[in-house]
Amino acid sequence: MTSVQPLEDDRDLLCKEILALTCTLQADTITENFDTPKNLLIKTTKYLTVHPFSSEVYNAGLYASSRLHLPESASHSLANIQYLQAQLLRFSPEGPDASGYIAKLEEAVKTGVLANPHATTKRKVQLKREKELREMKIAAGMIDVEQEERVERVAMEVKEERSAHHKRRKVRKLQSKISSLTSLEADVSNLISAYATPQLCGDCTNDPSRVDWSKVPSILQPSAEEEGGGGIKDPERAERKKSQVESLRVVLDSVVLGRSLNVVDFGSGSGNSSLVLASLFPSCNFTLVDSKPSCISILKTRIATSGLTNVTPFLGDVMDYKNPFDVGIAIHLCGEATDLAMKSCIANRASFVLVPCCVGKIHKVVQSQIDANVETPDYPRSSWLKSKLPMTDYLSLTRVADFSDGGGEGSHSEVAEKSKVLIDMDRARRGEEEGYKMQVGKLEPRTCSVKNDIIVGQAPLAPETK
Ligand SMILES: C[S@@+](CC[C@H](N)C(=O)[O-])C[C@H]1O[C@@H](n2cnc3c(N)ncnc32)[C@H](O)[C@@H]1O
Repeated sequence: MTSVQPLEDDRDLLCKEILALTCTLQADTITENFDTPKNLLIKTTKYLTVHPFSSEVYNAGLYASSRLHLPESASHSLANIQYLQAQLLRFSPEGPDASGYIAKLEEAVKTGVLANPHATTKRKVQLKREKELREMKIAAGMIDVEQEERVERVAMEVKEERSAHHKRRKVRKLQSKISSLTSLEADVSNLISAYATPQLCGDCTNDPSRVDWSKVPSILQPSAEEEGGGGIKDPERAERKKSQVESLRVVLDSVVLGRSLNVVDFGSGSGNSSLVLASLFPSCNFTLVDSKPSCISILKTRIATSGLTNVTPFLGDVMDYKNPFDVGIAIHLCGEATDLAMKSCIANRASFVLVPCCVGKIHKVVQSQIDANVETPDYPRSSWLKSKLPMTDYLSLTRVADFSDGGGEGSHSEVAEKSKVLIDMDRARRGEEEGYKMQVGKLEPRTCSVKNDIIVGQAPLAPETK
């Protein structure tokens, strides 16, 4: 095999970083120092050859190889690395037959013809050349920049007008489809008045139950600037976040009732709401579920720095969380994920606090169920709305509820707002049908968030104190 060129220092440093990762994963088996990513790959493949398959080692190898962005000029290194990557592929748990790939690479190494796996490098070079060429043409008076800008402005105006026209047509079409919404208005207002409004913190300024923020760990303050802190620079925004958390605390208090319960936050993000709640409810255990690895990694830093001992992060989708729990919260969890969280709470007979986000992609789920002719569709959520609204009308409703035209009386936003209320009423009604004591309302002060609807469900049988 061709000898490997020395790699640049920063790449060696990167390798050490990767090595550190590998060592943490396999502290007992891999303890040597690797000097280059290449060595890491060699060691990885050797290790995999003689030991039982280890996904940690395999993943570290993949990670190492994915971080290798060698320039085309380092063709010898590239050849070696590609060869080693191919070796590594042989151990893929999916078991792709890499032999063809290896043969191709060996041939490429022999003939010196190598495809650059990092096409973006080529694209960058191409863009740079195009830019240089354009600058030369401008300098030579071959391009009139002002004229170009005028043309762009006109094109933009035409595009905006077209999109507004398109939007108006879409709105008219959707509105005509949901005429049944008007006939449901009386039912909706009856429902709204039938549900109690959750007691919230209101304008907490003079409320004795207001959170004493000086006792909340500094890294959990919405405005904390240190790494892992809330990072909200605008004081008004930070204040709004505090109001949200304070209202949630009051509501959670009414559900927890001083007991030591297991609380799960679905779609916790980096814990801006639930980490503070965890510090305010030290006798409860909190599990923070999020599908984004970056959120979980920030969460881990914040948990360690804040010293909280009652929080466990969980990387995964809402439905991946299978352990029993007593209270579920979902704050601004996107679209149908809010319904999945509620479903999980109902399955656990757990109380819940939902502050739904946008309606999101619910229409996709609804459409797929219509297409599949599902016998017991997930939507509408309640048998009440199922009996009132054909599935196809509900589909229009979910689309309208996510559509905004900037507001105003008689505008589409008004219809959108009504549709959104109906979707939330349907959720509340489902809770009631499941035996829950339901409350619906708005976060206080309402200005603390645009998405300020809150749905609270008290479990039919209060969980025993743990
Ligand atoms: C708008 S953020 C809300 C963060 C947090 N609840 C708060 O109040 O600050 C929504 C979060 O939900 C997560 N998420 C969305 N869909 C999810 C799903 N199906 N399962 C788990 N997490 C999800 C996203 O990764 C994101 O972090």
